[in-house]
Amino acid sequence: MAASRDVPVNLRSARWFAPRDLFGFLHRTALRSEGLSDASISERPVVGIANSHSELVNCNLHFGALVEGVKRGVHQAGGLPLEFPTISLSEMLMKPTTMLYRNLMSMDVEEMIRSSPLDAVVLVGGCDKTVPAQLMGAASAGVPAIALTGGPMQPGNFRGRRIGAGTDIWRYTDDLRAGRMSDGEYAELEAATRPGVGHCSEMGTASTMAALTEALGMSLPGSAAVPATDARRGSLAEDTGRRAVEIAREGLRPAAILTEMALENAVTVLAAVAGSTNAVLHLLALAGRLGIDLPLERFDSIAARTPVLTNIQPAGEHLFEDLQRAGGVPALLAELAPLLHLDALTVTGRTLGENIGGAEVWDRDVLRPLDEPLLPSGGLAVLHGTLAPDGAVLKAGAASTELLQHRGPAVVFDGIDDLLARIDDPDLAVEAGSVLVLRGAGPKGAPGMPEWGMLPIPRKLLERGVTDMVRISDARMSGTGYGTVVLHVAPESAVGGPLHAVHDGDEIVLDTEARKLDLCVESEEIARRLAARPLPEPPFRRGYGSIYLDHVLQADAGADFDVLRHRAEEDGTEPYGLLEGWISGW
Ligand code: FES
Repeated sequence: MAASRDVPVNLRSARWFAPRDLFGFLHRTALRSEGLSDASISERPVVGIANSHSELVNCNLHFGALVEGVKRGVHQAGGLPLEFPTISLSEMLMKPTTMLYRNLMSMDVEEMIRSSPLDAVVLVGGCDKTVPAQLMGAASAGVPAIALTGGPMQPGNFRGRRIGAGTDIWRYTDDLRAGRMSDGEYAELEAATRPGVGHCSEMGTASTMAALTEALGMSLPGSAAVPATDARRGSLAEDTGRRAVEIAREGLRPAAILTEMALENAVTVLAAVAGSTNAVLHLLALAGRLGIDLPLERFDSIAARTPVLTNIQPAGEHLFEDLQRAGGVPALLAELAPLLHLDALTVTGRTLGENIGGAEVWDRDVLRPLDEPLLPSGGLAVLHGTLAPDGAVLKAGAASTELLQHRGPAVVFDGIDDLLARIDDPDLAVEAGSVLVLRGAGPKGAPGMPEWGMLPIPRKLLERGVTDMVRISDARMSGTGYGTVVLHVAPESAVGGPLHAVHDGDEIVLDTEARKLDLCVESEEIARRLAARPLPEPPFRRGYGSIYLDHVLQADAGADFDVLRHRAEEDGTEPYGLLEGWISGW
């Protein structure tokens, strides 16, 4: 391959643009036709910008301005920015759930990076699943990558109260159902809830993933909690663009950053912020992409030693933007320093410990000290037992203390339609001590594992003042959700997990202290019931849905596809997965 004098041949893009032959000619003409000069094409690292902007995703609506900032930074550092769209996932609008499409988006990101002449990529994501999909795709593609998250939206205001976009809404909706709020007030709330762009303002999935991305070392220090509309986010975009050019030149690939140490740091932060249980799935999937052993049990052992430090909804009172005011994620990491792997390399080229040097805490009500935490431990608990042989997850930090040890009879719902049809039936046989069970809501069952796990409290109990019950399902829960809600039961009902065998009235024991979740039915009887009860018909027989059902793994493997997990035998065989002949051709 003959290289141009002007192109550093170690750049990946040089394989497209450097050859002075027909193929180089054709590749260059593609960009020349966009009005780019030869100097733009042949002298610069090419930085792709994966933009998850979509008018279907309100949280990501401001990405146009962010991407312009990234481009300014790339130009400043001597690179060539090339923006490209990927599919995007709207937590609010996609049905049955964005989780059905997280793996699809990750494949879009991975294949766009792999197949294109990119030396580095900036991942611009915000709404819940967009960030993990981008991280998973970039990890699999292996090209240098840096993330820029979109920042939280400003809080709403309702009747003199500052409100978040999710947690407060669940509470007000219970007020409406219990007759404590009028339809008119509820309509007023609807108009006030989401006053602008940016992701949900509590420690929901998006805020959790933004904080974890910074803790993983994949975004710039201090970037996660800057509000979406804050001018500082524009300059962060420039900084990210400049750094993208540098990692292109350095060849700093995601695998060097996303190590076991980095993943453990992320789990520590997840526990310390009492973050979204969805992040458990995303970190499990990310580890699987990298060939890193990160069993579910590790989440439990790390959570057990990690106090909850952030006083942010749903576990606390404040919003994610308040963490920025209190010093941002660097201040949180500095507080957690004794529990972190400070040697972990980050996208800055420095270690995590070097990144957080000098971080200070400005508001101790928002960010508590390690020796005076919001909760001593237990932002998260992983349960096992006869009802969940492969595990289940409880956001213990947002649960009712008095329900963490509980025994009660099951009230079983087979899927969301059954739940919606019966939950408010005045004749439903349910008491405050009952255990609400929803099945048919797992990765294959629903399908896509929707956020149905925070089952509504039956209206007749709400009216009696009941605000929490033990609820168990193979579903997920919104990161803004709360309550004594056991999620991600594996194996799920649709593949014949024990959840499939529960009958109304069966006793269930939740013993959080012992990390147990048991169905009090003899194992022979469970086996007999499972053999007698057919599995549901697959909901899809064609298209992506059919592919999804063929390949999706259970919750304890992050609900990733089996074919997307790391394959050790491919390590080092084909840099970036591209054969030479594939580029020198048309
Ligand atoms: Fe997009 Fe919550 S709906 S982050």
